[in-house]
Amino acid sequence: MENQIRKIAEEYFRPEEIDSVSFLNGRAVVTILNSGENEETAALLREKIKSLPGVKKASVIFTAEKKPQGLHPQEEKWQIRGVKKIIAVASGKGGVGKSTTSVNLALALSSLGQRVALFDADIYGPSIPTMLGYEGVGPVSYDGKILEPFEYMGIKSMSIGTLVGKDTPLIWRGAKACGAIQQLLTDVNWGETDIMVIDMPPGTGDIQITLSQKLNFSGAVIVSTPQDIALIDAVKGVNMFRRVDVSILGIVENMSYYICPNCGTRADIFGHAGAQAAAQELKVPFLGEIPLHIDIRSTSDSGTPIVYSQPESPYSQAYKEIAGKIISELA
Ligand SMILES: Nc1ncnc2c1ncn2[C@@H]1O[C@H](COP(=O)(O)OP(=O)(O)OP(=O)(O)O)[C@@H](O)[C@H]1O
Ligand SMILES: [Mg+2]
Repeated sequence: MENQIRKIAEEYFRPEEIDSVSFLNGRAVVTILNSGENEETAALLREKIKSLPGVKKASVIFTAEKKPQGLHPQEEKWQIRGVKKIIAVASGKGGVGKSTTSVNLALALSSLGQRVALFDADIYGPSIPTMLGYEGVGPVSYDGKILEPFEYMGIKSMSIGTLVGKDTPLIWRGAKACGAIQQLLTDVNWGETDIMVIDMPPGTGDIQITLSQKLNFSGAVIVSTPQDIALIDAVKGVNMFRRVDVSILGIVENMSYYICPNCGTRADIFGHAGAQAAAQELKVPFLGEIPLHIDIRSTSDSGTPIVYSQPESPYSQAYKEIAGKIISELA
């Protein structure tokens, strides 16, 4: 089907302009690298794709960066309509629980009365659709231009994974990846949103730096595990945000200690309080610690994160305490 859609797209745009074609559950999304943004051609293409049997919805998205005159590209920020504050959840290193923290923090902020959006910018391993339970579902657009965010458990959400799929190895780099992220941030009907949480790609590469420059971040939350190696990377993360003038809201120590699900005994398997010491050294707030517990993993894997499915558990309380600190820092 994707080949068929691509063939049709090639009738309207040059092959090198066709950035990506995806088809999921009857929904086709074509992204076009085209600075001209030819709306009429896009409309024709949409109609043609929609006439294919099996296609229920078709979207054509331009991924070129818009450059308003008189602004140096470095200074030009992306405008996300309706969103008051944006916070980054980042880590120097992959696999430390950045996505688990993002999703539970977003739900915790929402439980404290904030209107929350969660954006998954992790092009290397988008996992928010799985954690919120919209994996495999394509985004909907009523006018073929502006996408509707997913709305689950009281928060709005959008993921780069809806364009690339979870198991498609993403070979996008630099401008291409940033263009797609920009489109999914700026052309979405976010409505009135107090705080947008962004699950950043791990590490401190070009994409992270570009996002930090293009978005008006109110601050960044750095997630780390207590091992030395993770902490060294967390310091790198803090320094990267400082270089681009994004303030650090604080460090969260994830997998801080282990609680045995059978007997409740606690074990500091990776050492403990390393992140607190690192925060002190870096003169940034320490936001709190989240233990390593099987329920935190299993609830996320099954699309019902712990803050939503077990709101009274001590782990959910830990996320809510961190969320409370973030709200007061933002105020
Ligand atoms: N506090 C925790 N207790 C138990 N399991 C956890 C905890 N935090 C994260 N996990 C589990 O560890 C794994 C990695 O977490 P997660 O996907 O959130 O990390 P990440 O930093 O986003 O990784 P990536 O760099 O791959 O995006 C997942 O299986 C997750 O369920
Ligand atoms: Mg992740």
